[in-house]
Amino acid sequence: MDAKIVLLGAPGSGKGTQAKRLCQELGLTLISTGDLLREAVRKNTPLGVKAKGFMDAGKLVPDELVIGLIKEKVAGLKGGFLLDGFPRNLEQAKMLDTIAKVNMAVDLEVDEQIIVDRIVNRRSCKQCNEVYHMVAKPTRMEGKCDKCGGETYQRTDDTEAVVRERLRVYKERTLPLAKFYADRGILIEVDGQGEIDEVYDRILAAIKKFKH
Ligand code: AP5
Repeated sequence: MDAKIVLLGAPGSGKGTQAKRLCQELGLTLISTGDLLREAVRKNTPLGVKAKGFMDAGKLVPDELVIGLIKEKVAGLKGGFLLDGFPRNLEQAKMLDTIAKVNMAVDLEVDEQIIVDRIVNRRSCKQCNEVYHMVAKPTRMEGKCDKCGGETYQRTDDTEAVVRERLRVYKERTLPLAKFYADRGILIEVDGQGEIDEVYDRILAAIKKFKH
């Protein structure tokens, strides 16, 4: 069975950090709507121009913009995939059902105060999207990505005020997805707190256990 995984969890719960490693280990295609949208903003494409204001304000980008992006990426895929940041609400989850059969939903659970600390200390690579934390995962050279040497930066939506709004939106729109997937018997809840490697081992073990 090819794993077709959606990775759920609040902003800053560690989805991006864990998604890259999991995809390498399990041979899955990674699709991150956040990364795709940020790339569109950087390149100033029509999608990026429309999405920027919503992202900077901590709101969800309207479904009609995001759904087109996902359809294009998922439709032609062969094999397994992991979606980071999609679906974000019930409408998106129902649309996803029409193009792919998700067989696992992994939900990373992290306390709100830890989330705020993680987000305000996050730095991301402009070039390859690698994610760092000023304390838990610093770059070896300040301001330079360890992987590709690209410049690291602080996302415009990574301020405390915007994070609070993102958390509010998450609780209202995204949290109901846990029940949506639990009702299908495919929800895997994982404690997202602790060291990055520890969380990674926990997720991997939970996925492997679920498959057997
Ligand atoms: P998106 O990019 O998806 O952001 P998010 O869901 O808010 O998640 P984050 O990227 O903030 O956090 P993460 O869980 O990936 O954590 P990370 O691994 O980086 O979306 C951004 C915006 O785009 C949205 O607000 C919305 O506007 C729009 N958007 C995206 N998808 C959309 C959709 N489907 N529909 C509509 N709009 C959409 O980790 C965070 C930090 O913590 C890092 O510094 C990391 O190094 C550190 N860290 C991670 N794990 C640990 C650990 N175990 N211990 C210590 N530090 C850790």
